[in-house]
Amino acid sequence: MTAAPKSTAARLDLALAALAPTAFAAAQPASAPPAYVPPPETARLLDGPDLASAQRYCLACHSADYLTTQPRGMPPAFWEAEVAKMRTAYGATIPDDQVKPIVNYLTTAYGPPARR
Ligand code: HEC
Repeated sequence: MTAAPKSTAARLDLALAALAPTAFAAAQPASAPPAYVPPPETARLLDGPDLASAQRYCLACHSADYLTTQPRGMPPAFWEAEVAKMRTAYGATIPDDQVKPIVNYLTTAYGPPARR
Protein backbone atom coordinates (compact mmCIF):
# COMPACT_ATOMS: atom_id res chain seq x y z
CA MET A 1 0.00 0.00 0.00
CA THR A 2 1.32 3.47 -0.87
CA ALA A 3 0.74 6.50 1.27
CA ALA A 4 -1.67 9.02 -0.21
CA PRO A 5 0.02 12.24 -1.26
CA LYS A 6 -0.54 15.00 1.29
CA SER A 7 -2.80 17.86 0.31
CA THR A 8 -1.32 21.30 -0.24
CA ALA A 9 -2.98 22.53 2.96
CA ALA A 10 -1.53 19.67 5.01
CA ARG A 11 1.95 20.30 3.58
CA LEU A 12 1.60 24.01 4.37
CA ASP A 13 0.60 23.20 7.99
CA LEU A 14 3.64 20.97 8.37
CA ALA A 15 5.92 23.62 6.94
CA LEU A 16 4.53 26.32 9.23
CA ALA A 17 4.75 24.10 12.30
CA ALA A 18 8.37 23.25 11.50
CA LEU A 19 9.28 26.85 10.78
CA ALA A 20 8.09 28.65 13.87
CA PRO A 21 6.74 26.55 16.73
CA THR A 22 7.90 29.08 19.31
CA ALA A 23 6.29 31.98 17.46
CA PHE A 24 2.92 30.19 17.68
CA ALA A 25 3.39 29.52 21.38
CA ALA A 26 4.34 33.12 22.06
CA ALA A 27 1.18 34.34 20.34
CA GLN A 28 -0.94 32.72 23.09
CA PRO A 29 -1.45 34.91 26.16
CA ALA A 30 0.00 33.28 29.26
CA SER A 31 -2.71 34.62 31.57
CA ALA A 32 -5.43 32.46 33.13
CA PRO A 33 -8.79 32.26 31.36
CA PRO A 34 -11.25 34.92 32.50
CA ALA A 35 -13.46 33.91 35.41
CA TYR A 36 -17.06 33.23 34.44
CA VAL A 37 -19.64 34.53 36.87
CA PRO A 38 -23.14 33.33 35.97
CA PRO A 39 -25.94 35.88 36.17
CA PRO A 40 -28.08 35.74 39.32
CA GLU A 41 -31.01 33.31 39.23
CA THR A 42 -34.28 35.11 38.68
CA ALA A 43 -36.70 32.18 38.23
CA ARG A 44 -38.18 30.65 41.35
CA LEU A 45 -40.55 27.83 42.16
CA LEU A 46 -44.15 28.67 43.01
CA ASP A 47 -45.39 28.24 46.55
CA GLY A 48 -46.96 24.91 47.42
CA PRO A 49 -46.87 21.93 49.77
CA ASP A 50 -43.35 20.58 50.35
CA LEU A 51 -41.82 23.44 48.39
CA ALA A 52 -38.58 22.88 50.32
CA SER A 53 -38.23 19.33 48.94
CA ALA A 54 -38.67 20.53 45.39
CA GLN A 55 -36.17 23.32 45.98
CA ARG A 56 -33.70 20.88 47.41
CA TYR A 57 -34.04 18.13 44.82
CA CYS A 58 -35.12 19.87 41.64
CA LEU A 59 -32.84 22.88 41.42
CA ALA A 60 -29.48 21.16 41.79
CA CYS A 61 -28.86 20.84 38.05
CA HIS A 62 -31.02 23.40 36.31
CA SER A 63 -33.05 26.54 36.74
CA ALA A 64 -36.60 26.60 38.05
CA ASP A 65 -37.45 27.72 34.50
CA TYR A 66 -37.36 24.08 33.45
CA LEU A 67 -40.33 23.38 35.72
CA THR A 68 -42.26 26.62 35.39
CA THR A 69 -42.30 26.46 31.59
CA GLN A 70 -44.06 23.08 31.55
CA PRO A 71 -47.75 23.09 30.62
CA ARG A 72 -50.10 23.80 33.54
CA GLY A 73 -52.72 21.49 34.93
CA MET A 74 -50.93 18.25 34.13
CA PRO A 75 -52.01 15.14 36.06
CA PRO A 76 -49.78 13.45 38.68
CA ALA A 77 -48.73 10.82 36.09
CA PHE A 78 -47.03 13.55 34.04
CA TRP A 79 -44.96 14.71 36.99
CA GLU A 80 -44.29 11.14 38.14
CA ALA A 81 -42.82 10.44 34.72
CA GLU A 82 -40.82 13.66 34.82
CA VAL A 83 -39.35 12.91 38.25
CA ALA A 84 -38.62 9.31 37.20
CA LYS A 85 -36.81 10.60 34.10
CA MET A 86 -34.67 12.95 36.20
CA ARG A 87 -33.68 10.02 38.40
CA THR A 88 -33.10 7.32 35.81
CA ALA A 89 -31.96 9.26 32.74
CA TYR A 90 -30.16 12.19 34.35
CA GLY A 91 -29.00 10.65 37.63
CA ALA A 92 -30.85 12.89 40.08
CA THR A 93 -30.35 11.52 43.58
CA ILE A 94 -33.86 11.91 44.95
CA PRO A 95 -34.69 9.58 47.86
CA ASP A 96 -37.65 7.24 47.27
CA ASP A 97 -39.65 8.82 50.09
CA GLN A 98 -39.33 12.26 48.49
CA VAL A 99 -40.86 11.29 45.15
CA LYS A 100 -44.49 11.38 46.32
CA PRO A 101 -44.25 14.75 48.11
CA ILE A 102 -42.46 16.29 45.12
CA VAL A 103 -45.01 14.92 42.63
CA ASN A 104 -47.79 16.25 44.88
CA TYR A 105 -46.06 19.62 45.07
CA LEU A 106 -45.66 19.85 41.29
CA THR A 107 -49.22 18.76 40.57
CA THR A 108 -50.61 21.24 43.10
CA ALA A 109 -48.36 24.25 42.52
CA TYR A 110 -48.47 23.94 38.73
CA GLY A 111 -52.14 22.95 38.51
CA PRO A 112 -53.75 26.36 37.99
CA PRO A 113 -53.18 28.17 34.67
CA ALA A 114 -50.13 30.46 34.66
CA ARG A 115 -50.79 34.08 35.61
CA ARG A 116 -49.46 36.61 33.17
C1 HEC B 1 -29.06 15.33 38.23
C2 HEC B 1 -29.47 16.55 37.60
C3 HEC B 1 -30.95 16.88 37.60
C4 HEC B 1 -31.80 17.01 38.67
C5 HEC B 1 -31.45 16.88 40.15
C6 HEC B 1 -33.10 17.34 38.12
N1 HEC B 1 -33.01 17.45 36.77
FE1 HEC B 1 -34.51 18.03 35.53
N2 HEC B 1 -33.24 17.91 33.95
C7 HEC B 1 -31.94 17.51 34.00
C8 HEC B 1 -31.41 17.48 32.66
C9 HEC B 1 -29.99 17.08 32.28
C10 HEC B 1 -32.43 17.92 31.81
C11 HEC B 1 -32.40 18.05 30.31
C12 HEC B 1 -31.67 19.32 29.98
C13 HEC B 1 -31.78 19.65 28.54
O1 HEC B 1 -32.34 18.89 27.75
O2 HEC B 1 -31.31 20.75 28.21
C14 HEC B 1 -33.57 18.19 32.66
C15 HEC B 1 -34.78 18.69 32.19
C16 HEC B 1 -35.92 18.88 32.95
C17 HEC B 1 -37.20 19.35 32.45
C18 HEC B 1 -37.49 19.75 31.02
C19 HEC B 1 -38.29 18.72 30.30
C20 HEC B 1 -37.54 17.44 30.07
O3 HEC B 1 -38.10 16.38 30.39
O4 HEC B 1 -36.39 17.44 29.58
C21 HEC B 1 -38.06 19.36 33.51
C22 HEC B 1 -39.53 19.71 33.52
C23 HEC B 1 -37.30 18.92 34.68
N3 HEC B 1 -36.00 18.67 34.30
C24 HEC B 1 -37.84 18.78 35.93
C25 HEC B 1 -37.12 18.37 37.04
C26 HEC B 1 -37.74 18.12 38.34
C27 HEC B 1 -39.22 18.24 38.65
C28 HEC B 1 -36.72 17.77 39.18
C29 HEC B 1 -36.84 17.35 40.63
C30 HEC B 1 -37.67 16.22 40.90
C31 HEC B 1 -35.48 17.76 38.40
N4 HEC B 1 -35.77 18.12 37.12
C32 HEC B 1 -34.23 17.47 38.91
C33 HEC B 1 -31.23 17.17 35.12
C34 HEC B 1 -31.72 17.17 36.41
